[in-house]
Amino acid sequence: MKKITIVGPGRVGESTAQIIAKSELCRELVLLGRHEGKTKGIALDIQETAPVFGFDTRVVGDADPAAMTDSDLVIFTAGLPRKPGMSRNDLVDSNITVLSSVVDDIKRYAPDAMLLIVTNPVDILTYHAWRGTGFPRQRVFGLSGVLDAARMASFIALETGYSVKDITTLVIGGHGDAMVPLARYACINGIPIDQFLDAATIERLIEHTRKGGAEILALKETSSAYDSPAASIAIMVDAVVRNRRRILPCVAILDGEYGEKDIAMGVPVVLTSQGAEHVVELPLTENEIAALFSSAQQVRAHIK
Ligand code: 2OP
Repeated sequence: MKKITIVGPGRVGESTAQIIAKSELCRELVLLGRHEGKTKGIALDIQETAPVFGFDTRVVGDADPAAMTDSDLVIFTAGLPRKPGMSRNDLVDSNITVLSSVVDDIKRYAPDAMLLIVTNPVDILTYHAWRGTGFPRQRVFGLSGVLDAARMASFIALETGYSVKDITTLVIGGHGDAMVPLARYACINGIPIDQFLDAATIERLIEHTRKGGAEILALKETSSAYDSPAASIAIMVDAVVRNRRRILPCVAILDGEYGEKDIAMGVPVVLTSQGAEHVVELPLTENEIAALFSSAQQVRAHIK
């Protein structure tokens, strides 16, 4: 990929930039921030790790939206983070305002870009980014399930003592307390987790996953998670840049899939060089459908 822009070089944006540069996922990486000096400083700091890690990605910081010109991918991490006690939805008004302020710039300077939305509440912001840009839905998607599934896999590994390398998990629905960790689809090297864990333990790990973001926020007090979101974003970017056709849970705009329309939320998606190529529809049990519907209702209430 030639050029990626990260809008909002806060903690998530900065950590993401470091991984993208180090992994040489693009030739040019632009950090776009409101404070010119600070943004240039962050970019230069990362650039100066290039000789140490041995990467050729050029990292540029700027406050001028024109710096995103002709980006292939724009990653949106700008906006306010949560404070302890806040839900992601408490950020909706302020962060929609921040998003709206760059939508026109994206349309003007990067009209062919894909958009990866990270800022919370991510389902709502992904929906508004899609509406605001008018881009095809394949080109607008968001982070959620890769992060939530990573948390679930971590908890399963810690609980069982088995290698995280063998653990696959799937979390769908909105990126909030009503997210839907699909324990039935969680495996350790193909073996369903109920072969290793009893029902009460699985339920506890599901609840832990739902509260995973809030747990980190409560512990850190002054910041949400940023290392695990950045690593999760980088996995999605890698899938796009290398056209891997990975099936990853992402926030996608739904058009009838899972019985939902005109909404964005987490579902398994085939990620390719064209973006969220298509949604993978899974057979779900009645309980899973009910949980997904209830999660969608929460997202829909805030979209309105
Ligand atoms: C999280 O779950 C910040 O929403 C993000 O940690």
